[in-house]
Amino acid sequence: MSDTAPRVTRASFEVVAACDEGRGLGYRGELPWRAPGDVAFFKALTTQVPRVGIENAIVMGRKTWDTVPPRFRPLRGRLSVVVTRDAALPLPDGVLRAGGLEAALELLAAPEVADSLHRVFVIGGGEIYAQAVRLPGCRRVHLTRIFARFPCDAFFPELGPEYALFSRSGEQKDEGLRYVFECWERRA
Ligand SMILES: NC(=O)c1ccc[n+]([C@@H]2O[C@H](COP(=O)([O-])OP(=O)(O)OC[C@H]3O[C@@H](n4cnc5c(N)ncnc54)[C@H](OP(=O)(O)O)[C@@H]3O)[C@@H](O)[C@H]2O)c1
Repeated sequence: MSDTAPRVTRASFEVVAACDEGRGLGYRGELPWRAPGDVAFFKALTTQVPRVGIENAIVMGRKTWDTVPPRFRPLRGRLSVVVTRDAALPLPDGVLRAGGLEAALELLAAPEVADSLHRVFVIGGGEIYAQAVRLPGCRRVHLTRIFARFPCDAFFPELGPEYALFSRSGEQKDEGLRYVFECWERRA
């Protein structure tokens, strides 16, 4: 590989997202729907670890970071990494900044960080998902499919044939919404 070839991260990670029937994710910096059951699913998936002393990491674009109300961020029990081109972006202690998605994944793959990590989740938004699902390190996509359509200005990318549906939950009914939890896996 030449010195100018793009670096390929070896770190594996998972994506977690919720989208509507038009693959819509968000509108004007907010989630378009209210689905407490999906929020609980996201929290459990991204927080659970098998033993004390380790945690999961969540990687997000700066606009998604901005959507989390300041009193709730960083999201508890997870190591947060914010992807931004703004080297001066103020972040609370313990929150990591990365200049790109691959830079974020490399940072988390460094032994001094990786040793205390269990899983790495890319949690949005649209710009970051579009980059994430194309990386070979993206092993799994947890996608909540909402059976409705909302006005949206951020979208989840189409998954290519390198992904296969691994599981789909039964239908959930929540605050007037219906949705299923899908898990897609990258083919070996
Ligand atoms: N439904 C869901 O599951 C879900 C999940 C998360 C978010 N959302 C929604 O999605 C929307 C936000 O998504 P979005 O696409 O607008 O923004 P985003 O992906 O959250 O963040 C975009 C920002 O990330 C940084 N960035 C992106 N690519 C980069 C790169 N290659 N190098 C360096 N920095 C990079 C830039 O930050 P700077 O401008 O600071 O440089 C860019 O402005 C909101 O409406 C939110 O509610 C939905």
